[in-house]
Amino acid sequence: PNPSLLILAGDGIGPEVMAEVRKVIAWYADHGTAFDVSEDFVGGAAYDGYGTPLADETLAKAMAADAVLLGAVGGPKYDTLDFALKPERGLLKLRKELDLYANLRPAQCFDALADFSSLKREVVAGLDIMILRELTSGMYFGEPRGIFTEGNERVGINTHRYTESEIARAARSAFQLARQRGNKVCSMEKANVMEAGILWREVVQKIHDTEFPDVQLSHMYADNGAMQLVRAPKQFDVILTDNLFGDILSDAAAMLTGSLGMLPSASLGAAGPNGYPRAMYEPVHGSAPDIAGQGKANPIACILSFGMALRYSFALGAQADLLEAAVNKVLADGLRTADLLGPEGGTPISTSQMGDAIIAALDTL
Ligand code: NAI
Ligand code: MG
Repeated sequence: PNPSLLILAGDGIGPEVMAEVRKVIAWYADHGTAFDVSEDFVGGAAYDGYGTPLADETLAKAMAADAVLLGAVGGPKYDTLDFALKPERGLLKLRKELDLYANLRPAQCFDALADFSSLKREVVAGLDIMILRELTSGMYFGEPRGIFTEGNERVGINTHRYTESEIARAARSAFQLARQRGNKVCSMEKANVMEAGILWREVVQKIHDTEFPDVQLSHMYADNGAMQLVRAPKQFDVILTDNLFGDILSDAAAMLTGSLGMLPSASLGAAGPNGYPRAMYEPVHGSAPDIAGQGKANPIACILSFGMALRYSFALGAQADLLEAAVNKVLADGLRTADLLGPEGGTPISTSQMGDAIIAALDTL
C-alpha cells in the first residue's frame, strides 16, 4: 500500500496554497511516487463544520496517517471565540497528541532570492541550514509556572526544565538529520549560566559518542549562536537547540532567506503505526487574512513543506531534491508572487500560476 497523507488545509490562505500542493502530489503520483490522500478540517473550518477546532475523528485520522500536511489556521472571524474553541487550539492539540518533539526549520537561500535577504548576498547565497528546536518541553511547559504573590508583590515564574530522555530524543533526531545532510551538528544552550544547559550539553555529547560518533559535533552558547547566525550562517549544517532558544534562533534564521511565503517546517515525533515517524508538515506563515481569497498567496512554503515530507518522512531524497530544483528554476526564471517582488516592483503572478509553473518545471527537469 502507498503511504498515507492527511491534508488539513485549514483557514484563510491555507486552502489556497494547499490546492497547489495537491497539484504537486498529483504530479508525483503520475511519476511513480503515490500517496493515499485524505482530507479533513482543522481550525476555524473545523469549528464551522464540527463545532470544535479539532474533532476527535480528525485527531484519530491524524494518528493513523503516515504524515499530516497542514495549511494554516485562524482568522478575524474566530477572534471572539472562547479560548478552548479558538482555531490555534486545534493546531496545538494536534502537536501535543502526536507528541511532535522535534521541530525542523530550514533556512535555505534560493539563489534567485539572495538579494531579498536582510544580509549581504555573499553571506547567504547557497545557504542551506536546518534548525532543530525541541518543541514539547523546556521553558514553555516546565512547572512550577504562574503568577504568584510573594510578600507584597507578584512574581512571574516559568521553569526551564529538561529531562535526560527529552534531551536524548531531540539529540538523536538531530544526528539522524545530519547524516542525511552535511553530517554536522552544532548544539546551542547556555551551559555557562544554566544547569539545564549543563545537562543538555552532557547528554548531547553522550548520545553523540555512543550512537553517532561519525557525525561532527560542536557546542556553542546560544547568544554566540545568534551572532554567528547573522555573521556567517554557512558555517552551520544542523543546529540543535531547546524550545526557548529555538523559537528565537529559528525566527532570526528565517529572515536570512527573505519572505515568510518561502518557509516550510516539519514537526516530528516517535515512530507511528507503519514505522514512519509521526509527522506534521506546515508552512511557517499563518492564514494571512489580509490577502486571503485574492489569489495572491505564495504557495512555495506549503509546497516545500511537502518536499520535507518526501525527505524526512519517506526518505525520498531524490524526489525532494527535484521539487527544490523546480522551485529554484521558476524563481530563476523570474516568476514572482507579490510577496517576492522587491522595491523595484514587477508583475506578480497568482497562487495558481505559481503552482502551475512549478509543475511545468517538474516536467522539464
Ligand atoms: P501571517 O503569517 O498570516 O501573515 C503575516 C504577513 O505575511 C501578512 O501580511 C500576510 O499577508 C503575509 N503572508 C503570510 N503568508 C504569506 C504567503 N504564503 N504569501 C504571501 N504573503 C504571505 O501572520 P498574522 O497576520 O500574524 O496572523 C494571521 C492569522 O494567522 C492569525 O489568526 C494567526 O493566529 C494565524 N496564524 C496561524 C499560524 C499557523 O496556522 N501555524 C501561524 C501564525 C499565525
Ligand atoms: Mg516564534
